[in-house]
Amino acid sequence: MKIKNDRFPPSLFLVYLGVLLLMSGIHTGLIVGMNTMGWNDVIQSIVPILYWSAVAVGLTIFTRRTIKRTYEEPMHRLAEATKKVAGGDFSVYVPPLHTSDKLDYLDIMLIDFNKMVEELGSIETLKTDFFSNVSHEIKTPLAIIQNNAELMCREGVNEEARREYAKTIYNTTKRLSELISNILKLNKLERQTIVPEAEQYDLCEQLAECAANYEPVWEQKNIEFEADMEDSVQITADPALMELVWNNLLSNAVKFTQEGGTITLCEKSDENSIRVSVADSGCGMDEETKKHIFEKFYQGDTSHATAGNGLGLALAMRVLQLNNFDIEVESAPGKGSRFTVVVRKE
Ligand SMILES: Nc1ncnc2c1ncn2[C@@H]1O[C@H](COP(=O)(O)OP(=O)(O)OP(=O)(O)O)[C@@H](O)[C@H]1O
Ligand SMILES: [Mg+2]
Repeated sequence: MKIKNDRFPPSLFLVYLGVLLLMSGIHTGLIVGMNTMGWNDVIQSIVPILYWSAVAVGLTIFTRRTIKRTYEEPMHRLAEATKKVAGGDFSVYVPPLHTSDKLDYLDIMLIDFNKMVEELGSIETLKTDFFSNVSHEIKTPLAIIQNNAELMCREGVNEEARREYAKTIYNTTKRLSELISNILKLNKLERQTIVPEAEQYDLCEQLAECAANYEPVWEQKNIEFEADMEDSVQITADPALMELVWNNLLSNAVKFTQEGGTITLCEKSDENSIRVSVADSGCGMDEETKKHIFEKFYQGDTSHATAGNGLGLALAMRVLQLNNFDIEVESAPGKGSRFTVVVRKE
């Protein structure tokens, strides 16, 4: 689209030309009239001066109004909006001055300003949401710890009950510390724009190690685990960060699969990419849940009865973004889920 780089109204030239031609005509008429009427020389020189002064005043007023309309009014509107934004009001909107086919640079500035305000507003909401989520997630375990500590201090509590309370306190502090370390990891990753510790390593070996760590959990849940991988494949990434991704996908698969289900870890590669998928025969997700799973603190089960804080996939997504890798999700309620990470080869 062509954007006009100039706000000077070209019609001003025609207006001036017309006015000056008309005024010169009147001026000549005045001189001829004064001559024929035989007015004295002083009056004959004062009248044109007064006449042209009046013309100059008229043109000045006209130019002032044109400048006001073209530059000052939009600038004042923008100044007012900027002041509101500075005061924390992100609902302001300054409409562009022209329709989309006749935009000039001032319109573009207003459109960019509106975009910037909208962006600022959403960052503000995200920040507020983040703090209320963190507070909520921290308050619940703190209340559990407080209750159990109180119960422990009561007189007449037997040894077995006391041990039970201590165990609950221990487990809850462990969850709390996991939550805080996840928040810190996410915060660090969000500020990072590059992968500083990237190195070449064997992905298959890493996947096998991660899966082996979950063996006791799936055995306990009587879940059948299948792996279909190549012997070895090299990738360039930060192994510690990629481990976060695999662990989150595997832990979700174990968590959301009922007893007796199946989990399949599959890895295959061609000359352009490596595809790693974690599939489960678990509860699956509906469309609405699928839309939000990568958001911080989002859990499909809104009662938050399942373990975790909804940070796992947000972390995984951030790691994948940093590496420029993709993730695909296929899932349907009751039909299980499949998460596929696509690693691009250089
Ligand atoms: N394999 C899966 N099957 C069904 N639902 C899943 C699966 N993986 C993720 N989800 C849904 O996505 C949500 C977000 O997942 P995410 O890993 O971010 O959080 P979480 O596992 O609940 O908690 P955390 O990872 O912090 O322990 C889950 O709460 C769940 O509703
Ligand atoms: Mg998770």
